[in-house]
Amino acid sequence: MSAIPIMGDGLPQPLLDLLGNGYRVYEWDTSEGSEALATCVGVITYGHPRVDGPLMDRMPHMKIVSNHGVGVDHIDVAAAKARNIPVGNTPGCLDAATADMTMALLLASARNIVTGDAFARGPEFVHYDPSIMIGHEVSTCTLGIVGMGRIGKQVAKRARAFDMPLLYHNRKRDEAAERDYGAQYRSLDDLLRESDFVALNCPLTKDTTGLIGKRELELMKPTATLINMARGPVVVTSDLYEILKAGRIRSAALDVTDPEPLPRDHPLLKLSNLVIAPHLGSAAHKTRRRMIEMTVENLAAGLAGQALPYQVHSN
Ligand code: DGY
Repeated sequence: MSAIPIMGDGLPQPLLDLLGNGYRVYEWDTSEGSEALATCVGVITYGHPRVDGPLMDRMPHMKIVSNHGVGVDHIDVAAAKARNIPVGNTPGCLDAATADMTMALLLASARNIVTGDAFARGPEFVHYDPSIMIGHEVSTCTLGIVGMGRIGKQVAKRARAFDMPLLYHNRKRDEAAERDYGAQYRSLDDLLRESDFVALNCPLTKDTTGLIGKRELELMKPTATLINMARGPVVVTSDLYEILKAGRIRSAALDVTDPEPLPRDHPLLKLSNLVIAPHLGSAAHKTRRRMIEMTVENLAAGLAGQALPYQVHSN
């Protein structure tokens, strides 16, 4: 039997190993006359390449888009549905790792871990000085979680163990979160006004694009920190830069940015009241292994014309 042609963007060796010999894997190629587009029956999106209706139309044999990751904002799911192409993703397995990273950024910014690391390695650290880099006890700080979904709940669970009072904002009230984690519902504006840390854990949709701009940032306490674990475009980058530069909020901790990555000379990267990571939310060994497995399971099901084990549904 000949190998099944699929296209993937920079697929890692563990994923290729799991696919095995049954597939002919084309590198991502959307150029005119691309053999991959003409022949492939499936696509694996690994590093967020854009898959939209026009691209789908150029793939006459495509049966499945299997996304490595839970966020599918780079895929036009409605366009796929209109063409009867199922889209799969990897929900659930990365919630704990992403929540860990949310807490890591929260703690890093509360306790000056990054600036402290640089200082501790530098020539100026010649004696212990109790008066430097004094941070904040997170147990006295209120955490506002925007997006009380699977990841938001894992953040709430961790923050509760740190004794942090919890607020949340969500499309719908979530009684389980209120009961299990003592989280209190707030409108977005009230959450921004009352929180010491605001963690964005929502998906990127048309409703959350630009959710946090100048007006919202100005509602935050001057002592507050914004943590973006969602997607870059949830925050208006230029507004965040102006607010941070003016010291209007204490700091920001970003796992994601818009654009991503930021241009290397972007002024945001020069600010000392910013902690930044290169989109590491789910970057933990067991999580990544499971994401690969789920990606391959979805691909195989889609190619076999079966229901995907982890299917994305368009709204
Ligand atoms: C996700 O799962 O959405 C991560 O951001 C990686 O794409």
